[in-house]
Amino acid sequence: MLAHEDYVCGRALATVTFLALKLQRPLFLEGEPGTGKTEIAKAIATALGRRLIRLQCYEGLDASSAVYEWNFAAQMVAIRAAETGQSADGASLRTEVFGPDFLIERPLLQAMRAQDGGAPVLLIDEIDRTDEPFEAFLLEALSDYQVTIPELGTISAPQPPIVILTSNRTREVHDALKRRCLYHWVGYPDFTRELEILNARVPEASTQLSREIVSFVQRLRGEDLFKRPGVAETIDWAKCLLALDVLTLSPEVIADTLGAILKYQDDIAQLQGLETQKILNEARKSLEQA
Ligand SMILES: Nc1ncnc2c1ncn2[C@@H]1O[C@H](COP(=O)(O)OP(=O)(O)OP(=O)(O)O)[C@@H](O)[C@H]1O
Ligand SMILES: [Mg+2]
Repeated sequence: MLAHEDYVCGRALATVTFLALKLQRPLFLEGEPGTGKTEIAKAIATALGRRLIRLQCYEGLDASSAVYEWNFAAQMVAIRAAETGQSADGASLRTEVFGPDFLIERPLLQAMRAQDGGAPVLLIDEIDRTDEPFEAFLLEALSDYQVTIPELGTISAPQPPIVILTSNRTREVHDALKRRCLYHWVGYPDFTRELEILNARVPEASTQLSREIVSFVQRLRGEDLFKRPGVAETIDWAKCLLALDVLTLSPEVIADTLGAILKYQDDIAQLQGLETQKILNEARKSLEQA
């Protein structure tokens, strides 16, 4: 199913994904940046024809941005209208302005709603960026798939959403949350798998060039870098090289396009000159041996 969406993964990730769907458990994906954690949620949603609802986490994210908010401006307008005698009396005004028409639904609440075509995919992206109180709140929402709005009551999902959580592990996520989920560590792919991913995502690159790119990036990850390139960078780089009509890698071409794979000046400086040639030679050698 994932391969059909051009998502390439090994047996372990495929199995844990299958189990998460089968047992209706959230899937917790932790791993290196740019290794396809977010992408798998998109692939699952497209493959199953479900709506994808994304909650992008950040520091300071709170329930009102994640679950719901009252449309304050619209409430004020309604109250003013009532004051000038165009609308309902006090009591019914109160139920009216705290009714569904004035509710702004945020991702978590949207995910609890029935959708055409089945339960949505809820992507809770980069959970390590939020703080612990929000995590505790999330734990509650995910344990019984319901949220409570004081003025409206409890809203339960008719069918549990398919939940994918991702983390770059900038901090450890609490055990209690992890316990609810099935866990998988997404590391950098090996040569064969990365080549497969590149072929799926940039099929217009020649076999020879793709092999060189992947082999070079694989070697590069072995260097002492501040930030190692992910699969996303490999794909970007291939697209850059194609745009320049490059047929084969050379130290000059690499130096000109390094900004597609390395995003820190120290890393780029380290790679200039001799180092590039050395890595390229090693990459070529390992290709010959393969
Ligand atoms: N296994 C894979 N199969 C297909 N494409 C992949 C795979 N892994 C990564 N990609 C490609 O790499 C890009 C980046 O992946 P994605 O955004 O999912 O990374 P991520 O792990 O969420 O990174 P970050 O931690 O930085 O958010 C995707 O757009 C996708 O094209
Ligand atoms: Mg991501």
